[in-house]
Amino acid sequence: MIGVMFLVALIFALNVLNEPNRLEDAADVQTEIFVERGAEIYVQNCRSCHGLEGFGPDEGAIAPALNSPAFLILGENHVSGAEPTSAGVANGIRDFLGNTIACGRSNSVMPVWSDQYGGPLSAQQIDYLVTLITEGRWDLVDEIGHEIDSHQDPPATREDILSDGQGLSLTTENCGQYNALTAKPFRERDPFASASASAATSKNESEGEKKTVETATGGDTQEALIQGLSVSDYYGSLCAACHGANREGGLGLPLTREYLTEPDNFYIDTIKDGRSGTLMAAYGGGAVLTDEEVQAIVTWLKNTDP
Ligand code: HEC
Ligand code: HEC
Repeated sequence: MIGVMFLVALIFALNVLNEPNRLEDAADVQTEIFVERGAEIYVQNCRSCHGLEGFGPDEGAIAPALNSPAFLILGENHVSGAEPTSAGVANGIRDFLGNTIACGRSNSVMPVWSDQYGGPLSAQQIDYLVTLITEGRWDLVDEIGHEIDSHQDPPATREDILSDGQGLSLTTENCGQYNALTAKPFRERDPFASASASAATSKNESEGEKKTVETATGGDTQEALIQGLSVSDYYGSLCAACHGANREGGLGLPLTREYLTEPDNFYIDTIKDGRSGTLMAAYGGGAVLTDEEVQAIVTWLKNTDP
């Protein structure tokens, strides 16, 4: 009897000592449930564009990679030994992903997903997706994808998507602040860079910025501004979604110098009038761009390397 009482007391004491761990375990269990649900939703809705395992163009998919280290939120004991992600940065990443998924990306084929804006997913389901991406659990996407494919038609390939083009439509307006240009710092974040290396880059970046500003305001190679942006930033905000951040092409054709062999007017007309039956919209007639701005873009495309 005394032995049993002693044992009960001991178990109780151990439980009290173990309380913080139990809380952590509970959080882990919740995260695991979230990522699993996120992976199911991803497989059903996202992999046709972002890739079966989220690798994007590396898998031949038409949309950017989502299994990028840039979107990871690292915990205290991350295996890499990298610094845990600060709460502020983590919130920024969650907002960026949540906003983009909820609202889609205007001027790209990234659809609106939130049921608040006419899409098919609830805020909770979008949260599951965000957790999947910030936890980087692409192993689950792979596993669930294989399971589903074993009793369902395989998902559309890049060729299927581009050949009928019907499933693709441009998201014109969105509820969010992000475009391809404002998305850039999030896409390029490197959580594994050591603190000293990142300090060095940010110094270089600010010096680089100063230089661009100087050339934009004076000097021989003065760059034209469109709606307050340099031509290259304007390209980044509006055209890169289809033609690629480095003009390498994607949904649209490559726009590097070696591809642009026709006279200026050919490209000016394309940008002004668009190409009917394709995703290339008309930007001319002052609706989006003035004639001078279209000319400035063509001059820039034909005379600079990405
Ligand atoms: C929604 C996707 C999309 C966006 C955004 C877009 N384009 Fe295009 N663009 C295309 C597609 C698709 C084609 C190819 C049409 C075809 O099949 O002929 C194209 C073709 C072009 C061409 C002709 C290239 C060639 O070799 O014939 C130019 C120039 C061009 N786009 C410039 C731009 C510029 C500048 C912007 C930004 C203001 C832009 N595009 C935005 C999809 C897009
Ligand atoms: C019809 C194709 C398509 C589908 C389906 C699609 N996306 Fe996208 N998505 C895109 C494109 C294209 C972009 C890039 C837009 C740009 O360049 O600004 C994008 C961008 C994103 C981004 C921002 C990434 C970045 O680097 O800026 C996230 C996050 C995202 N999608 C998540 C999802 C999720 C989650 C789903 C499924 C619920 C999904 N997408 C379904 C085409 C798609």
